[in-house]
Amino acid sequence: MDFKKIFTNNEEWVQEKLSLDPDYFNKLSKSQNPEILYIGCSDSRVTAEDLMGAKPGEIFIHRNIANMVISIDLNVMSVINYAIYHLNVKHIIICGHYECGGVRAALQSKDLGILNPWLRNIRDVYRIHKQELSLIADENSKFKRLVELNVQEQCVNLIKTASVQKAHKSRGLLVHGWVFDIYSGKIIDLNLDFTKILESIMEIYRIDE
Ligand code: CO
Repeated sequence: MDFKKIFTNNEEWVQEKLSLDPDYFNKLSKSQNPEILYIGCSDSRVTAEDLMGAKPGEIFIHRNIANMVISIDLNVMSVINYAIYHLNVKHIIICGHYECGGVRAALQSKDLGILNPWLRNIRDVYRIHKQELSLIADENSKFKRLVELNVQEQCVNLIKTASVQKAHKSRGLLVHGWVFDIYSGKIIDLNLDFTKILESIMEIYRIDE
């Protein structure tokens, strides 16, 4: 990416949009009505709109290192709250990806300073699923599986959230766990059973009105 070309690229993009619809930016400025909240990794290779074929206005997006949902992270929790109560999204997607640098770093014991407390949440995922992961001898397969399990646990973290539980009950909000397969470009749906996860953790995490 040539930094100097950004404004030229932007101008070309504007002209392209206007050539298709002279009213495009006027319409875009009016409002947004996305039905999906996407929480993905900040990794530059894992875009959100591109891989889903989405247009501006269609997806509300939050990205951080290793697509984490941490209950005391005011940033992600504000995004979730806004998406549920103000945008009334119908779906929340957690999308991880193979070759995730955040997950890889959590598999190593290196001191990464300010990143340590963030990555510790991924180490906690490893601890929860230690039994399964310790049976995988191949390091790359273990890495890939941890990426998937991390997505699963971030979905669980979403379901622990009162706003998600309430919106699921009142209007059928759904949570989806995906992995972007960076080797093929395809999205893999982990087909997590929302209701099953909900039932299994509700005894501990249920938050009533
Ligand atoms: Co990543």
